[in-house]
Amino acid sequence: MNHPNRPRRLRTDGIRPLVSETTLDASDLIAPVFIDATTDERVPIETMPGHERVPVEQAVERVQEIRETGVEAIIVFGVPESKDSEGSRAWADDGVVQKAVRRITAETDAYVITDVCMCEYADHGHCGLLEDDARQDPVLTVRNDETLDALARTAVSHAAAGADMVAPSAMMDGMVGAIREGLDDAGHTEVPIMSYAAKYESAFYGPFRDAADGAPAFGDRRHYQMDPANAREAMREVTLDVEEGADVLMVKPALPYLDIVRDVRERFDQPVAAYNVSGEYAMLHAASEQGWLDLEATAYESLLSIKRAGADLILTYFAEDVAGAL
Ligand code: PBG
Repeated sequence: MNHPNRPRRLRTDGIRPLVSETTLDASDLIAPVFIDATTDERVPIETMPGHERVPVEQAVERVQEIRETGVEAIIVFGVPESKDSEGSRAWADDGVVQKAVRRITAETDAYVITDVCMCEYADHGHCGLLEDDARQDPVLTVRNDETLDALARTAVSHAAAGADMVAPSAMMDGMVGAIREGLDDAGHTEVPIMSYAAKYESAFYGPFRDAADGAPAFGDRRHYQMDPANAREAMREVTLDVEEGADVLMVKPALPYLDIVRDVRERFDQPVAAYNVSGEYAMLHAASEQGWLDLEATAYESLLSIKRAGADLILTYFAEDVAGAL
């Protein structure tokens, strides 16, 4: 049988690597780290097997473990010792993230990114300052413009502690511009902003909210995070963040939103990051614990697919495991 086109010719072991279109490297990955001011020993995160909340005293050790796998970049999340209605521990000089970042940057060469948001620090668990009558009318919940100042202060305090990059995740309108101005006024003109530009109101964040203790006490995040139904709106969100000075554009979650990753890649020239979120991690673990999926293979395939869709960087709880196996 003569067939001029036989794609299988290029699938032998010898040639597959030569014609492979996508590669995954440890330098593409960013590992999330949870620092917890309420504990003096490591606490396993039940919904995210293999991950722990670690005390400030062990932050450096935790980052060294990650770097041993070849992953050089981390994103730090904090669990504060106390919460209030303003989330004031988010920008405290002696806050949990600030203390951890000071140690990590003094003692390691890791590239340190910080998550900038209010939800882990506010007793109500929302991503900004609340309207007075928010509990009666959850549609109002968060005061956008009053929150910008708190986000900028938080970002500046992270930069002052030594953060290499800040990553605002609150989904407030104007947050990137406010943070850029705050950083510049404080002399941190060299600190880039990775914006959670297209962040969806996703049920895949469930395990993270346990990990970082940041679930909203009432209501939900539908009126500030994006509607999963919308793709064009994501382009609008990203355009605004670019205009406000975002250096890296993030799409979150990753796997259910690969079309958005691709759209951002095609429309914008900034580096694109994708956040392979806690639920994407937890579901592979749960299935593999049942013996239904091969964890290592599905984790690798997930990250490769996110890169193939157009992401330059991937934030993922699989960072250490996948990098270690590469
Ligand atoms: C804070 C924040 C969240 C995540 C990252 N930053 C939680 C949320 O928006 O509810 C989720 C990360 C994950 O699920 O892995 N705003």
